[in-house]
Amino acid sequence: MQEIECSLLLPPMSTATRVRSTGGRYRHLVPFPRGTATLRPVQPSPWSPETITVTAGRPAASPDAPLNTPIVPASTFHAGGQWEYAREGAPTTAALETALGALESGTAVAFSSGMAAANAVMDIVPPGGLVVAPSAAYTGVAVRLRELARMERIRLSIVDVEDTDAVVSACQGASVLWLESPTNPLMQVADLPACIEAGHAAGARVLVDNTFATPLIQRPLELGADLVLHSVTKALSGHSDVLMGAVVTADPELAEQIRIRRVLLGAAPSAFDCYLALRGMRTLALRVERAQENARVITARLTTHPAVSRVRYPGWGTIAAIEMAGGTEAADRLCASVRLWVHATSLGGVESLLERRRRWPLESDTVPDDLIRLSFGIESAEDLWSDLTAALVAVQTG
Ligand SMILES: Cc1ncc(COP(=O)(O)O)c(C=O)c1O
Repeated sequence: MQEIECSLLLPPMSTATRVRSTGGRYRHLVPFPRGTATLRPVQPSPWSPETITVTAGRPAASPDAPLNTPIVPASTFHAGGQWEYAREGAPTTAALETALGALESGTAVAFSSGMAAANAVMDIVPPGGLVVAPSAAYTGVAVRLRELARMERIRLSIVDVEDTDAVVSACQGASVLWLESPTNPLMQVADLPACIEAGHAAGARVLVDNTFATPLIQRPLELGADLVLHSVTKALSGHSDVLMGAVVTADPELAEQIRIRRVLLGAAPSAFDCYLALRGMRTLALRVERAQENARVITARLTTHPAVSRVRYPGWGTIAAIEMAGGTEAADRLCASVRLWVHATSLGGVESLLERRRRWPLESDTVPDDLIRLSFGIESAEDLWSDLTAALVAVQTG
């Protein structure tokens, strides 16, 4: 087993700080003194992603070394070594970042939530810069981008990411092309290589929110994207017990700028949460495989169910959406009638969740009122099906 090392015993480094130049793209940011808790560069791995999830981010192998990275609950560290202050970087955080970076082929920066990670990227858009974003991006991201546009901090252009021609023309003059694929919750799939090429041709940075696909199914940096965003809260941690996010990039300067955003925005994750997320990631491959199988079996059956008017599922992944023949009332009744499925927001956990997305007042009005998002867990497919069909019968019989 090859270990991608995350040593807790690195040689001491000088505490002297260097002021980073923020020329070019980062002119609007104050030059920031680089501390000693810098990010680890990408370690190319000979192993498959399934193996990386198990092996990456472990302490260096030596007699008596623990197999798992310990939880180091420290806000500060003795001066003169690698760590200084936990917002800058910390051992348990670095272990998670090493593993996620190896998985996405880049350098990862962990944040206290997916939204904190998203805000870090929004922060590096130059003043007045044009952001091109999906017509139904994740609600929090969509609302925040609209807010920044209203404050005249950015300019915003909204596109249907499935319409590649529209994406190409929207990219003219853009600073950032912000993609989600599949989108939450419309399950739209973008032609990533074509969109990334269009973004780069226009001189834009391209971000892909890879929360739905996970790096086991899709690795946007390998397709040429500049930034990957994750709500680590979801499938990566996988047990609905952690709130965390991450940004991954193969550009070391960009990674450092994103890390500085974490320092200045104060959005560092806790050591305990990093431990839980890394522990959850160890089983990512098995969970995705099983949940995807459940999604395939059940969405295939739902396509012929008379209570369901439309199934949105790209044929892969662990998330789907359905629209109800009986409209919004039927959708609410379905959510109230399930017993094994859990009526709750969020996704990517071991348990199957469902919710009507428009129950959230700020959800995009491009999302149908009766759309229910399904997040498939790892239970028995037959148990999930019998619970769902019983609830669908309850919907039909009133
Ligand atoms: C696609 C996507 N991106 C980002 C986020 C934000 O992540 P968090 O809830 O961890 O802040 C979410 C949350 O649902 C999401 O679904």
